[in-house]
Amino acid sequence: MEGYKVYVTRMIPEKAILYLKDHYDVEVNPEDRPLERSELLDKVKNRHGIITMLNDKVDAELMDQAGSQCRIFANYAVGYNNIDIPAATERAIFISNTPDVLTDATADMTWALLLSAARRVVEGDRIVRSGGFTGWSPLLMLGVEVTGKTLGIIGAGRIGQAVARRAQGFGMKILYTANNPRADFERETGASFAGLNVLLSQSDFVSVHVPLTPLTHHLISVSEFAIMKESSILINTARGPVVDEKALAEALRNGQIRAAGLDVYEREPEVEKELLVLDNVVLSPHLGSSTLDTRERMGLMAAENIIAALHGKIPPQCLNPQAATKGR
Ligand code: DGY
Repeated sequence: MEGYKVYVTRMIPEKAILYLKDHYDVEVNPEDRPLERSELLDKVKNRHGIITMLNDKVDAELMDQAGSQCRIFANYAVGYNNIDIPAATERAIFISNTPDVLTDATADMTWALLLSAARRVVEGDRIVRSGGFTGWSPLLMLGVEVTGKTLGIIGAGRIGQAVARRAQGFGMKILYTANNPRADFERETGASFAGLNVLLSQSDFVSVHVPLTPLTHHLISVSEFAIMKESSILINTARGPVVDEKALAEALRNGQIRAAGLDVYEREPEVEKELLVLDNVVLSPHLGSSTLDTRERMGLMAAENIIAALHGKIPPQCLNPQAATKGR
């Protein structure tokens, strides 16, 4: 549609931008850094559609700054804890996200961390680079076996289920939590529905896949570490604040759990200092969906959502279709 203005708060793979440029007047933040709040408030003014990142706070103030012509904020992420959805609905603004297209990439990343933590890959890399490798030794850096162990999936949504499917290749027993038991998933993977405490006390590996909400904030904290096995390994590729980082550092230091692999942090890009000095935690910089294929698919999906909204339709990945019923 001629005359519609779209803003993208961060550079994303070019495909999506070119696609949007075929339809609209598109501006992209040219700098590879998140916008300061004041810049964001300024940049959204008079736009009809905006692609936001997971670290942009999309609240009532930002929506009001955008103006009453704004139809959609399309979040370039599956998680949307950065967005005030009721405020958007009230203003008849659609919110969309990018589910499915990043499921495999994020499940792969979960496994990259799980295997790295279990087999001490990053720790070993540091030893080799610093000249500490003096030759093969029968007792050198003994890790833990993955095959045949129990994997606990906290939150068996799309990504949790994809992680579980990969675990089948390792002959693992799978426990999971979810709002309700999932018969298809159980049939496919042999997974068993469990309460959180049972899962934590029986799993050798625990992987977190719940969205961040007030209910899941610090879901894993002091009392949860207390019931986990001393040999267990915790992986978090969901959202940082689901795990209490200080409590995790303490559990890793005092041997309450064996190791951890983290892709997400409570106060990104800050990382709890106590974690940085520990060898038994693998830390990656929020790379869950970071493959070129996936990031292109996320961009095209966000673009499709913008296009639908600007055509007066409910976007395909809309999180608040009720916004359509609000008068403009
Ligand atoms: C998401 O989409 O929520 C991921 O964390 C982005 O990498």
